[in-house]
Amino acid sequence: MSEEQVEVAEAGSSNGAGGGTANTVTITDNRTGESVELPIEDGTLRATALRQLKDGPDDFGLMTYDPAYLNTASCRSAITYIDGSAGVLEHRGYSIEQLCEHSSYLEVAYLLVHGELPTNDQLATWTHEITMHTFVHENLKEFLEGFRYDAHPMGMLLATVSALSTFYPDSKNIDDPEERRMAAIRLIAKMPTLAAFAYRHSQGMPYVYPDNDLDYAGNFLGMMFKMTELKYEPDPRLAKALDTLFILHADHEQNCSTAAVRAVGSSQVDPYSAAAAGVAALYGPLHGGANEAVLRMLARIGSVDNVPSFLDGVKDGKEKLMGFGHRVYKNYDPRARIIKKHVDEVLEVTGGAGNPLLDVATELEKRALDDEYFTSRKLYPNVDFYSGLIYEALGIPRAMFTVIFAIPRTSGWIAQWLEMLDDPETKIARPRQIYTGHRQRDLQADLAVLGR
Ligand code: CMC
Repeated sequence: MSEEQVEVAEAGSSNGAGGGTANTVTITDNRTGESVELPIEDGTLRATALRQLKDGPDDFGLMTYDPAYLNTASCRSAITYIDGSAGVLEHRGYSIEQLCEHSSYLEVAYLLVHGELPTNDQLATWTHEITMHTFVHENLKEFLEGFRYDAHPMGMLLATVSALSTFYPDSKNIDDPEERRMAAIRLIAKMPTLAAFAYRHSQGMPYVYPDNDLDYAGNFLGMMFKMTELKYEPDPRLAKALDTLFILHADHEQNCSTAAVRAVGSSQVDPYSAAAAGVAALYGPLHGGANEAVLRMLARIGSVDNVPSFLDGVKDGKEKLMGFGHRVYKNYDPRARIIKKHVDEVLEVTGGAGNPLLDVATELEKRALDDEYFTSRKLYPNVDFYSGLIYEALGIPRAMFTVIFAIPRTSGWIAQWLEMLDDPETKIARPRQIYTGHRQRDLQADLAVLGR
C-alpha cells in the first residue's frame, strides 16, 4: 500500500453513495460522478479522507485549501476550551473567571501542564522546583552584552530562550520523561529572569539576580525594578495584579505562537528551540505585539476629542483599531473584561489615576461598541486592549509588554508541546501547497537570452 493509500484507509471512510448513518456527509465529485460517504467525527471531516476523490488514476486526490487555518483543526487538545461566540474561556474545564479569582499563576501553570489541580504537597514541590531554577548560566549575561544598547527586549528574549538549548543539550532527548519535566520547570522558571535581564540591558542597568524569598510575580518585579535597596519588597497589590495578568495570558489553545511551538516541536527538536519559535510568533503586532501597538495607538490619538476622526480612519481602512478583534472571539474577550476591572485598581496604587490614555481607551471602546462597522464584524476589545495600560501604570516600558506576555504563555506552550508529544496521531507538521509557479523551463535557453 502506498503512503497515500494508507492515509486514506486510516481516514476510515467508505466508498459508494450508501444511505449510511446520520453522522456522515456524502460528497459527489461532479468531475467523475462518483460519490463518497465520509464520517463526521467531533464535527470535523478528515481532510485526508477527501483524497479518494480523484479525477483519474494518477490524480493525487482532492486536497483542502485553508491558508491561515481558518477552518482546520490541527490537533486534538484537552487543555483549553474557548467558545468564541459566548465569550467563554476554560483551562482544563475551569473558567478563567474562577481561576483569576481563586488561584495563582503557578497553580494554573501546574494545571495546564499536568491536567489536574495540584495537591498541597504537589503545589509546594512545584513552586519550590520553579523557584530553585530561576537562575540562568552566567554566560547568558555575556551573551546579552553582545546586543546593542537599544536592542528590542523581545529580540533578546528570543535569542536567549533559544540559547538555553545549548546549555541543556540533553533536553533533545525528548522521549526521556525526566528531560521533559526539567525542561518544563526550567522554561517556566527562567523566562522571568531572561525577560528582566533583557530589560535591564536595554536600560544600561546591572542585572538583578532572582530572590527566592519572593513569589513568582514579586520576584519578576524585583528583577525589573530593584535599585540600591538591600531587599526589594513588591507592593502585594501590584504583585497580585501581575499574577492575575499572568493567569490571563497562560494559554489560549491553538493561537499563532502555540501553533508555531507545535509545528516546530513536531520536528522533534528540543523544547527550548520549540519555545523560541513561540516567542518569535508572539513578537508580531497581530499577536502578542498588539499590546505595545495599542499603547502607541492611544498615544497617537492623544485625546478624547480625536477619537471620532481616528475611528473614521479605521472605517476607511487607513488604520487598524489595535486591541480589537479576534480570530476566535466574536464576543467580548473574557480576558479583557477581567483586565478592565484591574486597571482602576492598579492606577490607584501607582497614582496613575487620571491617565489621559485611559480616557482615550474608554471612549474608543464606547464608540466602537456603538458603531455598526464594528458590531457587524463582531469586533470587541481583546486581551491586549487594556493590558498595556496596566503595564504602563506599573512603570514597565512599552517595548517590554510583549516580553511580559511571553512569561506566562510559556506554561501554555509547554503544556501543548507535551500533549503533542504524547498524541499518537502526531506527525511532523508539513502542509501541502497549491503550486502556482513555472514548470520545466529551459535554463540554457533563458541564460542565452540574458547573454550568459
Ligand atoms: N480594526 C479594524 N478592522 C478590523 C480589525 C481591527 N482591529 N480586526 C478585524 N477587522 C475587520 C477586517 O478588516 C475585516 O473586515 P472586512 O470584512 O471588511 O474585510 C473583518 O474585520 C474581519 O477581520 P479579519 O482580518 O478577517 O479577522 P482575522 O480573524 O483574520 O484577524 C486579528 C484577527 C486579531 C488578527 C485582527 O482582528 C486584528 O488584526 N486585530 C488587531 C490586532 C490585535 O489586537 N491582535 C491581538 C489579538 S488577541 C491577543 C493574541 O492572541 O495575540
